[in-house]
Order: sequence, then structure tokens, then C-alpha cells
Amino acid sequence: MTFDRSIKIAPSILAADFANFGAECAAVEAQGADWVHVDVMDGHFVPNITFGPATCAAIRPYIKGVMDVHLMISPVDSYIDAFAHAGADVITAHIEAGPHIHRTLQAIRATGAKAGVALNPGTPAESIVHLMDMVDLVCVMTVNPGFGGQKFIDMSGKVKTLRQMIGDRPVHIEIDGGVDPTTAPIIAGAGADVLVAGSAVFKGGSVHDPAPYGENIRAIRAAAQGVYV
Ligand code: DX5
Ligand code: ZN
Repeated sequence: MTFDRSIKIAPSILAADFANFGAECAAVEAQGADWVHVDVMDGHFVPNITFGPATCAAIRPYIKGVMDVHLMISPVDSYIDAFAHAGADVITAHIEAGPHIHRTLQAIRATGAKAGVALNPGTPAESIVHLMDMVDLVCVMTVNPGFGGQKFIDMSGKVKTLRQMIGDRPVHIEIDGGVDPTTAPIIAGAGADVLVAGSAVFKGGSVHDPAPYGENIRAIRAAAQGVYV
């Protein structure tokens, strides 16, 4: 993974057809997705259950680009190796998931994967001031985690603070939740570069008719880049 701060669209397969994950990953990449965002939920850290390492391993062959795994689980550490072996390029853990985030990030990097830290809406940017050289990505939640299709919570102030804290380090700022062509300019303008979108990408399409995925991705990208279609 080479680093650049250009806008990347990362569809979340939480909004995909759960009976066709492999085909959905291939379709959304063919329609212009830069990364594929995989929302892992354990029914404990968040009030929902999705999928685990086995699903990540199963979809890996269908993803040519970055598999961006978002762990909404607690505890985290005992599962890191399994997600790395499944082929995750980025493994993101929530700072709220346990008392030892520094050790968790060390463990993620030790697998060779890129390390991400996720911040829930109520968690301040300053909470990661001692982790700036331990992360490759900061995931700013713009919904309370657990479900797709929720209303966007504006975190542009937090994004601006993080941009300052990151400086010229090769660290992505990822936005996750409620991203669509209306909200994308707000957070891209604040300094985010990776935009996760579930419902706004998968709406109106299917594995049999993926063209809407491409239209939706282009609309979000154009809005983020300030080019309104
Ligand atoms: C929520 C997940 C988000 C969510 C985004 O816990 O982390 O990735 O799936 O879905 P939308 O884009 O529909 O808000
Ligand atoms: Zn996510």
C-alpha cells in the first residue's frame, strides 16, 4: 500500500447482499471503488453481529485492492492474527474497545497489516495524541457504530484537529457513517481522504445490475472533490 492523500471511496459491504459477498466486492471494485470496507461486529462492542475472519478470507480473492477491516469488537487482541491471516490490508480497532490500545496497534503492525484506530463520535481527537506514530489511519465515526443507513453526525471539527495533529505523517483520515454526496464535501473539506459509504453506494443496484454502484461512487467522489455532477 503506497500512501497518498487523494480521495478514496471505500464501500462498506455491510450494505451489500449478504448472500453474494464475493460477487458484490468484485462488482463494486469494477464500478470504481478504491477500497473495500469490511464492518466486523461482535454483538458486544456494538449491538449487532455481522461476520468474522472466515468471511474476510472468503472474500479476499474477490478484492484486487485494499481490504479495509473495521473491527467493532471487544476484546480485540486475540483476533488480530486471524484477520491478518484472512488477508486484511488495514486492521482498525476502536480506542474504546479496551484499556490497551497502544499494545493493540503494536500487535496489528507486527502482522504486517496497516494499523488503524477508530474514534466514536463522543471520543475526542486528543485521545490519540500519544499514538500518532503508531497508526497509519484514523477512522472518525460519523455515526454511532452498529448499523448502516444512520444519520450523519458532523465531526468536521474533529477532522480539522486530527489534520493538524497528523501534520505531514503518512496517516489517512477515514470517515465512516452517513457519507453521501451531501455530507462528503463537509468532511473532505475538513481534511478527510478515505470516505466509507454503505447505503449511499449500494442503493439502487445489485450484483445483477451494478451500474448504480458506479453512479453512486462517482457522485460521492465528485462531491468530495468539489466537482458537482
Ligand atoms: C457502522 C459502520 C459503517 C456503516 C456505514 O457501524 O461502521 O461503515 O456501515 O454505512 P452507511 O454508509 O450506510 O452509513
Ligand atoms: Zn465501518
